[in-house]
Amino acid sequence: MKPDDLKVKILGIVGTPIKDGNCQYFLEQALEAIEAGGTATTELVHLEDYRIEYCAGCEGCLRRVHKLQKELGYDTVPVPVKDYNCGIRDDMEVLHKKMLEADGILLAAPVYIASMPGQVKTFIDRCRTFVHDFRLRGKVGAPLTVAFYRNAGEDTTLQAMSLSLLALGLSVVSFGASAVTTKEGLGIPIRETRFAVKHDMVGMTLMRAAAGQVVEAAIQMKAGKLALEEAGVQVQSGSWTIAPTIPG
Ligand SMILES: Cc1cc2nc3c(=O)[nH]c(=O)nc-3n(C[C@H](O)[C@H](O)[C@H](O)COP(=O)(O)O)c2cc1C
Repeated sequence: MKPDDLKVKILGIVGTPIKDGNCQYFLEQALEAIEAGGTATTELVHLEDYRIEYCAGCEGCLRRVHKLQKELGYDTVPVPVKDYNCGIRDDMEVLHKKMLEADGILLAAPVYIASMPGQVKTFIDRCRTFVHDFRLRGKVGAPLTVAFYRNAGEDTTLQAMSLSLLALGLSVVSFGASAVTTKEGLGIPIRETRFAVKHDMVGMTLMRAAAGQVVEAAIQMKAGKLALEEAGVQVQSGSWTIAPTIPG
């Protein structure tokens, strides 16, 4: 194993209707901190640049996963579905590809009424295939959020995003970080700067810590996978699908 084998790719995904806003800036700073470490490359995608339809609830992704599991056995992990396992032809195809190529994902979204904006939830719903095909297993993730007021939904938003990442199969390796976009989080606008979030020292510090945790865990995960491969050890992680309960 050489140091170059352990370079990792961290994908930053930001979901907010606002381009070049505080949330994007918060994520950009996290990715900049990661790049500065010299052990990872990064890419930022803004969901506003992608056409993402609602999940239609057709369960086509699930049916294709189950069909393969029936053929190959329920212990097959990951399930070798086609790269894009969704019936809706839109920009999610590009996003699935980027997620599959990444070693770690930072998901950033502002607090909208104590949770993530609908745009981000729609994006997550469209990732349902990963819940069942386990293709994101072995990748790490963490959430980032920004809010107007201090303690006005940051924790619930971080939790909702963490649970979503976990459901998609990622290992969440940090609580993540939140920052406020107003003076001391009191709702008083900071007019002298474009990115008010940079005045939140606690938020900025915790964001860099979360970024560090993600890159460190991504490298350790990659090193672990390579070490197992070199040692010829196969971990039987298995799928949690219980065969007899699958209809059809
Ligand atoms: C629909 C909506 C709901 C919001 N809900 C909350 C909230 O519950 N708590 C809070 O502190 N800020 C709330 N905000 C403020 C945003 O979190 C804040 O303005 C954030 O900086 C937006 O980031 P952005 O400019 O990068 O999109 C809300 C904003 C909008 C538009």
